[in-house]
Amino acid sequence: PITVKKICCIGAGYVGGPTCAVIALKCPNIIVTIVDLNQARIDAWNSDNLPIYEPGLDEVVKARRGKNLFFSTDVDKAIAEADLIFVSVNTPTKKSGIGAGFAADLNYLQLATRRIAEVSTSSKIVVEKSTVPCRTAESMRTILEANSKPGCHFQILSNPEFLAEGTAIQDLFAPDRVLIGSLQTDEGLDACKALMSVYSNWVPTERILTVGLWSSELSKLAANAMLAQRISSVNALSAICEATGANIDEVAFAVGKDSRMGSKFLKASVGFGGSCFQKDILNLVYLSESLHLPEVAKYWRAVVEMNEYQKDRFAHKVVETLFNTITGKKIAILGWAFKKDTGDTRESPSISIANHFLSEKARVTLYDPQVTESQIWLDLTNYGEVPAEPIKPHVTICESAEEACKGAEAIVVCTEWDEFKTLDWEKIYKNCPRPAFVFDGRLMLDRKALQKIGFSVVTIGSGDRP
Ligand code: NAD
Ligand code: UDX
Repeated sequence: PITVKKICCIGAGYVGGPTCAVIALKCPNIIVTIVDLNQARIDAWNSDNLPIYEPGLDEVVKARRGKNLFFSTDVDKAIAEADLIFVSVNTPTKKSGIGAGFAADLNYLQLATRRIAEVSTSSKIVVEKSTVPCRTAESMRTILEANSKPGCHFQILSNPEFLAEGTAIQDLFAPDRVLIGSLQTDEGLDACKALMSVYSNWVPTERILTVGLWSSELSKLAANAMLAQRISSVNALSAICEATGANIDEVAFAVGKDSRMGSKFLKASVGFGGSCFQKDILNLVYLSESLHLPEVAKYWRAVVEMNEYQKDRFAHKVVETLFNTITGKKIAILGWAFKKDTGDTRESPSISIANHFLSEKARVTLYDPQVTESQIWLDLTNYGEVPAEPIKPHVTICESAEEACKGAEAIVVCTEWDEFKTLDWEKIYKNCPRPAFVFDGRLMLDRKALQKIGFSVVTIGSGDRP
């Protein structure tokens, strides 16, 4: 049997960082080195100010850093020393070339794979941690075999990550399952056992699932597509609720009570965001099309289209309710992250909603407890592709929700941060022009209490009048 003593993780992002920090915590006998090409990110991992905000992460990193957990930019050294290498690099949607807008960009993954082949002087287990299209392991193996030194052998495993941001540490401590895919050869199964022995330090054996490589790769895309599909379904129903007087929370509760359905992931919203759902569904759409399955592609594409519709629909509703114009009006957006308890803004619905308001020439004030001002500007300018100057006079980034809401004709809640529940809404009301509107895009506020104060309240999926 292969004993894993040294692990290298390539990619110190939202997945590589927390995942391998938890492995270091749970496996004190394994030396874990997380590497990245991005010096600033590695410096942050080595500082008191970690590069990502995730509840519980600081404690885990502090407990093991410098003991059996290391962060470094010396990618080659960490690869050379490791017996097992996680590849946790980004696999974003391709922006140009074949499959642009749909296919996963596998350039980072391939560069990392090539580096592994080039600097390895001993055999390794290479683990796909990144989310990849089905059969990526095959191309990784070709790259590894074509570039390896004599006597070096590589076994490739697929071990997709199912953590959600904001609850990453909790998810890693007690995962619903750990999935490991391998070739069903003797060598493949030996490699699979080696990775199982790492996880079995804290994950009960019955939660470690072993399957074939291609099933494992596809399961990750399938899980995200089906989770997102539930949200799009409930969001589609929220539009029917608004038009009929039904209430989406009541409908979702009733539907979710069916034990075949379950109650989770049925919360209507301004639309789903985050770096995974849209990217992985588009990836699945592209895969289906490449496999000449246009009906399958069309089915999954509709999940993303419904999400776009929901974001647009919400923004339109704000304009419509404010008597069909928001030109020159002050609108407060509460929440910029794609969900609570993270500072991540990738594909956040707040970005599209703010852009919509700006295109209507509103004055937008923004507040988020975790997102930095520089990140908000990167998002508003699409990372420098849109000039900042024309929008600058119309945007104010605030230090508190109260400041953002001062004088606003509409307060628009886009992220479900807990602190928005306990704001001093009476005081906020006093500082707003009349009529004072609150748009609850997360169904999180006490509608009746706000109405009692005097607010007109518009909630996603509620047919009640404001
Ligand atoms: P990320 O962008 O936060 O991190 C990726 C890191 O890899 C970056 O810091 C980048 O500098 C580094 N990198 C890229 N190429 C490299 C190379 N050749 N050598 C060394 N470092 C390199 O991305 P992420 O959110 O951590 O996602 C990583 C993968 O995990 C993606 O495939 C994603 O789909 C998947 N995933 C993400 C989540 C999530 O919640 N974010 C959950 C499950 C799976
Ligand atoms: C998702 C998957 O949940 C996770 O398993 C996978 O590994 C990565 O992708 P993440 O994107 O981090 O995780 O967060 P998630 O909790 O899934 O939320 C995604 C988006 O859906 C957020 O914008 C969230 O607000 C929204 N959402 C979620 C809803 O609108 N309604 C819900 O009921 C649940």
